[in-house]
Amino acid sequence: MSLVEITDVVKTFAARQRGGDPVRALRGVSLQVNEGETVAIIGESGSGKSTLGKAALRLIDVDSGSIRIDGDEITTLETRALRAKRADMQVVFQEPFESLNPRLAIGAIIAEPLQIHRPELGTTEIRKQVLQVMDKVGLPAAQASRLPGELSGGQQQRVGIARAIISRPRFLVLDEPTSSLDLSIRAQVLALLAELQEESRMAYLFVSHDMHTVEWISDRIAVMYLGEIVETAPTRQLFDNPGHAYTRTLLSARLSADPRERHAYKAFAGDTTVRQVSTGDAS
Ligand SMILES: Nc1ncnc2c1ncn2[C@@H]1O[C@H](COP(=O)(O)OP(=O)(O)O)[C@@H](O)[C@H]1O
Ligand SMILES: [Mg+2]
Repeated sequence: MSLVEITDVVKTFAARQRGGDPVRALRGVSLQVNEGETVAIIGESGSGKSTLGKAALRLIDVDSGSIRIDGDEITTLETRALRAKRADMQVVFQEPFESLNPRLAIGAIIAEPLQIHRPELGTTEIRKQVLQVMDKVGLPAAQASRLPGELSGGQQQRVGIARAIISRPRFLVLDEPTSSLDLSIRAQVLALLAELQEESRMAYLFVSHDMHTVEWISDRIAVMYLGEIVETAPTRQLFDNPGHAYTRTLLSARLSADPRERHAYKAFAGDTTVRQVSTGDAS
């Protein structure tokens, strides 16, 4: 059994506007993530990626289906048990600043999950673990007393990651965690996430629309289209030999988006269109 077992999950939202149609955000989604594995979810905006990530942590309730994390069915856990389970499953969002309390010092923000889940540790031990985790994510100890607004975007996201991992979760949902970061910082944060996973064998559900990021970080990729997973494949296989027409569209749309990045896709040797584009660039 996988650490994360999502089976046949359905979620429909009421229309945001009166008289509008309900939105079928998840139409029977099944997905597994193993310990130590990164599964990326790709798909265009509105396809249901974030809804799936939130459902997987029960940040929203689903209409039907099953979500098991380490054997526990989280869709039916009652409040107390769910609260305890939250130590095991954490989230990192796209906009670090928006997800950090601007009035709390960095050290206090990172300490919060331990104060909630492990109050018996006591102030001194919690402070010690905060400094350890700050060191682990590359934040200088001196920043513990700073406010989020005083940090750079990359540092803010390190805070988000530190807070997510301090309770030693087994499962992390990362929803576009590097999309708001500069390219150079993005690579550093991705390397950090990979390193943390190597150490702790966390399962990552990694939502992203950036193919470079996904290609680098993920073991497997699930492609979402209008609330359904249309294809799941190991990363290399998906890039080399996409099975679904929509996956090919996604990959080719990405290709034409930035001509400077086309060369990076020469690896798609199976696709003649791509080969022509690459040859064109070289001449
Ligand atoms: N709270 C909500 N109320 C109504 N509709 C929502 C809500 N959250 C998401 N949706 C809709 O569900 C669909 C999937 O959204 P989302 O999961 O955020 O997509 P993605 O992350 O792939 O961009 C979209 O049509 C979105 O507008
Ligand atoms: Mg989203």
